[in-house]
This record gives sequence, structure tokens and C-alpha cells, in this order.
Amino acid sequence: MHERALHHELGLDLLRATEAAAIASAQTMGQGDRHLSDRAAVEAMREVLDTIFMKGEIVIGEGERDKAPMLYIGEHLGLGWRLNTADLNGLIFPGVHIAVDPLEGTNLCALGQPGAITTIAAAEPGGLLGAPDIYMEKLIVGPAARGKVELEAPVKHNLGIIASSLDRRIEDLVVVVLDRPRHTDLVKEIRETGARIQFISDGDLSAGINAAMGESGVHAVLGIGGAPEGVLTAAAMKCLNGEVLTRFLVKEQLVDRDDRNKVPADAAARLRDMGIKDPAQVYTTQDLAPGQKITFAATGVTASTNPRLNGVRFFSGGVRTWSLVMNTEFKQVTYVDRVHMDKDNPNVVVRL
Ligand code: FBP
Repeated sequence: MHERALHHELGLDLLRATEAAAIASAQTMGQGDRHLSDRAAVEAMREVLDTIFMKGEIVIGEGERDKAPMLYIGEHLGLGWRLNTADLNGLIFPGVHIAVDPLEGTNLCALGQPGAITTIAAAEPGGLLGAPDIYMEKLIVGPAARGKVELEAPVKHNLGIIASSLDRRIEDLVVVVLDRPRHTDLVKEIRETGARIQFISDGDLSAGINAAMGESGVHAVLGIGGAPEGVLTAAAMKCLNGEVLTRFLVKEQLVDRDDRNKVPADAAARLRDMGIKDPAQVYTTQDLAPGQKITFAATGVTASTNPRLNGVRFFSGGVRTWSLVMNTEFKQVTYVDRVHMDKDNPNVVVRL
């Protein structure tokens, strides 16, 4: 198969996986059981991923093999591991490294709150950093401020740059921050600039996607969130021309903001064991997602402020999903509003 066709098909295949995960997890919405919601997404996503024409390997997943029965780091997925190439006229299965957050915002889904999405990023082998499941300090901006902000710079300085890049006042910015006690000082600093703040209870990856899309009403994401979500954000930023600047953090570093630059010796050793050579280094979008051929797909699960990632709707005779799939190689962003009709019901009415 031609490489271009393969690439396009991969995006559409990944989309099938995020859609399946979204439909399955949306069915558990509001049940109050985050593990149930997550399991539904994981099982549905895995089933589709294993049907894709690739030799896929999970580099960011649900955890180590002994802790995660499915989509564990190192798991092999795709037809390439099972079919004999001799039967396929020498067709070669592309090697694909995959990062998944099968349900970003498990609590949001379990509680029926807005912002839960299903996500996958894929790249050629080595194209996505296998980040450990620890925390990360993050600064996420859209294309206008890319290359101008600095993680270490004072909040006021960065917000000034973001505002001038967007040709607006600092007071007219909306900055998304995870509502966590560790962000008390950060929130104080943002408030002092006059910028507006949108607190979210979970989901800094979908907030990051919003920050990189025009007309979303969100201009930046600041604060500390999960490192795996940081790598997926970087994959999305490469596709959307946005930027995420990050620094890995272990729990000890969350306590005192002033001490964050001083990595405790034992924590530094632990980070090095996890493959992070310089724990004080700023990891850029390119460091987190160095791949040339990155594909990113996401589907809305619960309601969203982003109309391209609306939540799943169930109706008599089918389901409707809203997704986006994008890639770096062809610089395409595709919005997919899909109706999945019941196959054995010939009377389904598809609405505009
Ligand atoms: P899940 O995918 O586990 O639901 O993560 C939700 C999330 O809010 C992320 O968006 C964020 O990066 C991280 O958790 C923050 O972690 P914590 O809840 O420990 O502050």
C-alpha cells in the first residue's frame, strides 16, 4: 500500500478507536464509578487498535504490565504481530509507537461533568517520549505565542507576551488552571496580572487543545498535571502549531513552589532511573513528541465547550460522536461528526 494512503488510513483507524472508547465510556456517564468508565474506554479502544494494519507498541498507556491488564506500556497491538507477511505479497506493516489516554477525565465522565475526551497519539518508532506516570509543570499556548514564552519566566511576563501576541489586554486573557491546592501561589500570581481564570477539576489535555485552537475562548493553560497527558498534549500541539513547555516533577517538588528548581538528590536519582537524564531540564514540544509523522485523534465523551469535541449523543437507532483527527506530515485537521446507525434497524432517521 502507498505510504500516504497508509498514513491517512492510520488516522481514520485511530479515530475508530477513540470513537469506540467514547461510546463505551459515555454509556457509564454519571454512574459515579471512575474505574468502570475507564475500563469501558480501555477495552473498546484496545479491541479496535488490535485490528489496525500496523505493528503497534504502546509507549504511554495505562501503566506497567503488572498493574494494567490492557494497553500497558510495551503492549504490542495490530495485525502486524499476528499475520504472516508471506501471505500478504511482501506488504510491510509500519511500526507505530502509540500513546493513549483512553479516557482523559475519568472523574468527569463518572460524574457526568463536561470535558471528558478519549485520545490517542501515534508516531513512527521513537516519535513519542515514553514519559513516566509522574507530574509535570506545564505552560501551553497557541501558535501566536509559540517560541516566545518561557517556562521559567515569571507568570506576569508570559501572560504579557501571550496577550500581545494575541493583540489583546492581559485582562482579556482566559487562563485555564487545574483546581488543586498546589496551584495556590500560581493562582495568586495570575490574579495579580488581572487575567481571567477558568478553573477545571480535571482535563488539562483537552484544555491544552482548546488553547491552541482559535475562537475557543481559552488562551493558555498553566500549572501542574500528569506527565503522560503532557506527551499527548505535545503531539496535539505539533499538529496545531501550538506549544507546550514542561518540566518533570516528583511529589516532593509539589510542596513548595520556591523549591521546585532544586530537585532533591533522591528524587533526581529516581527520575534518572525513569529515563529523565536531566531532571531540571525544560522539555519542549519537540522533546516530548520528536516524531516527524505524528497523528492525533480525540473524541468527546461528555459535553464540551469545544463544539468539535461535543459529548456522545445516543438516540433511538444510533449514536452520534464528534471527533478531531490531525497529523503533522500533511498538516491536516479533520473534524468528524459521525452518526453510527444500528446495523439491523432499517428505519433509522439521520438528522442534519
Ligand atoms: P485522568 O485521565 O486520569 O482522568 O486524568 C485527569 C487529569 O485531570 C489530567 O487531565 C491531569 O493532567 C491530571 O489528571 C492531574 O492529576 P491530579 O488529579 O493528580 O492532580
